Amino acid sequence: MSTLVIAGLSWGDEGKGKLVDLLSEKALHVVRAQGGHNAGHTVSRKGQEYHFHLLPSGILNSNCSCYLGAGVALYPPQLLKEIDSLDFKLKPNQLFISPYAHIIMPYHIQLDEAKESVRGVHSIGTTKRGIGPCYVDRVDRIGIRVCDLIDPDCFDLALKRALLMKKDLFEHYGLNVDAQAIQNEYKKLAIRLKPMVAPVEVLLREAQMREEPILIEGAQGALLDVNYGTYPFVTSSQTTTNGMLSGCSVAPTTVDQVLGVLKAYQTRVGSGPFPTQFSKEEACNFLSPVEAREIGVSTGRDRRMGWFDLPLAKYGVMVSNATSFALMKLDILDKLDKIKICTHYLINGEKHELPPHSTFYFDSIKPQYIELNGWKTSTTNIQNFMDLPLAAQEYCNFIQSQLKIPLVLVSTSPDRDSVIYLEGDL
Ligand code: IMO
Ligand code: MG
Repeated sequence: MSTLVIAGLSWGDEGKGKLVDLLSEKALHVVRAQGGHNAGHTVSRKGQEYHFHLLPSGILNSNCSCYLGAGVALYPPQLLKEIDSLDFKLKPNQLFISPYAHIIMPYHIQLDEAKESVRGVHSIGTTKRGIGPCYVDRVDRIGIRVCDLIDPDCFDLALKRALLMKKDLFEHYGLNVDAQAIQNEYKKLAIRLKPMVAPVEVLLREAQMREEPILIEGAQGALLDVNYGTYPFVTSSQTTTNGMLSGCSVAPTTVDQVLGVLKAYQTRVGSGPFPTQFSKEEACNFLSPVEAREIGVSTGRDRRMGWFDLPLAKYGVMVSNATSFALMKLDILDKLDKIKICTHYLINGEKHELPPHSTFYFDSIKPQYIELNGWKTSTTNIQNFMDLPLAAQEYCNFIQSQLKIPLVLVSTSPDRDSVIYLEGDL
C-alpha cells in the first residue's frame, strides 16, 4: 500500500467510509486532511453501524494511528462526542490532531445558518455545520487554530481578535455571540483535546521514512471541491487529491495510488445542478431513498438520485488524479429491467464529454444515454467478478472502458465482507 489516497470522485457519499475501514487493515496510519463534520462516513461491521463525521474511519482498527491534519475544520464538541460514543477507549497513540487545524466556533455555525437563510432560492443547501465560515476566517487570517485553543493565553488573544474583526458581521445578521460562554466552553474542551495534539506533519513524514503504509481518507468528493467542483454549489475545502495532500503536508510525489470512489449511480444532497437526476417516473421505478440507503448521514436529508454520469465521472478522475477506481453499491441496481448511463452531454446542440466550466450552463445540458440490460438478480455477497451476472459484468466493464483506469473493487452490500476485488494490489 505505502501511501494510498481514497478520493470521492462525485458529490460525496460514494462509500469512502467502508473502503477506508476495509483498507485500513493494511495501513498503520489513517489521515483525514480536509473538511469537517459535514462528512458522514458509515462503517458497517457484523451488523453494527458506526457513523463518523470527524474521526477517521480507520479508528476501528486498533493497529492504526489516526490523524486530523491541518486542512481539517475541527468542531471540538463533535470530535469529543464521537470519541465518547466509541465502544472502546482510545489508546494514547490512536489519535493525533494537527496544531494547525482550524477550529469551528459557535459563531461559525450561527453564520452558516444565517447566510443560508439570506440566500433564499440561491441557498447552497449546506450542512449548516459552520464549515464555510470557518474556512472564510482561515483565508481572512482571523481563524482560531488548535495550537491557539490549547494555550489559554493564545486563545484569549485569538478570540478577542476574531470577535473584534467580526463584530459588524454579527450585527449585520443580528447574531448574539456570547464571548464569555464561548471562553468557558472552549477552555474546557481544550483540556480534553490537548493530549491528542501532536506535530502530525512530522509524524507522517517520519512514517514515510520508515516506509510504513499510510491511507489518506478523503471527505466529500471532487465535484464539491471549492476550486474544481460545481461552484458555487460546493463545500469550502479542497476535496481533490492535491487538496488533501496539502491538508496533511504529504508530497504528491510520495503517493503510490489514488483510489477514486464512485457509486454505480449518481446521488447528490443539497442544492446545485444534477444533469442525470431521475425524472418523476424514473424515480418511481427505482428504489426509494430509504430502500437505497440514500438518507444523508450528517443531516438526515434524502439524497437526490440519478443515472451514472460519465462526463462527471471522467472529470472527477481527472481533477483528483485517480489511478484506479472502486464501484460501490452495485446491488442497488439489482432489480432494474434497463439501466441507463449518460455517455455525453449536448449543450446548445454541441457534444460535450466533460461538464461545462460555468454552472450557469448546466441548465442547458441535455444528457445523452445508452441503455444497458439489467440483471434482475441479487449480487449481494458475490465474491468473484466472474460470478456476477453477465449484464452486471458488462455494466462495470463499460464504465471501466470509458474511464480508462482499472476498476479494482466492486461493492455489493454495506457489509465489509461483501466486496469483489479485481486486478491490482491495494
Ligand atoms: P461525505 O464525506 C455529501 C454538501 C452539502 C452541501 C455542500 C456544502 O460524507 O461524502 P457544507 O456544509 O460543506 O458547506 O455544504 O456540500 N456536502 C456533502 N454532500 N457528502 C458529504 O461528505 C458532504 N459534505 C458536504 O450537502 O450541498
Ligand atoms: Mg457521507
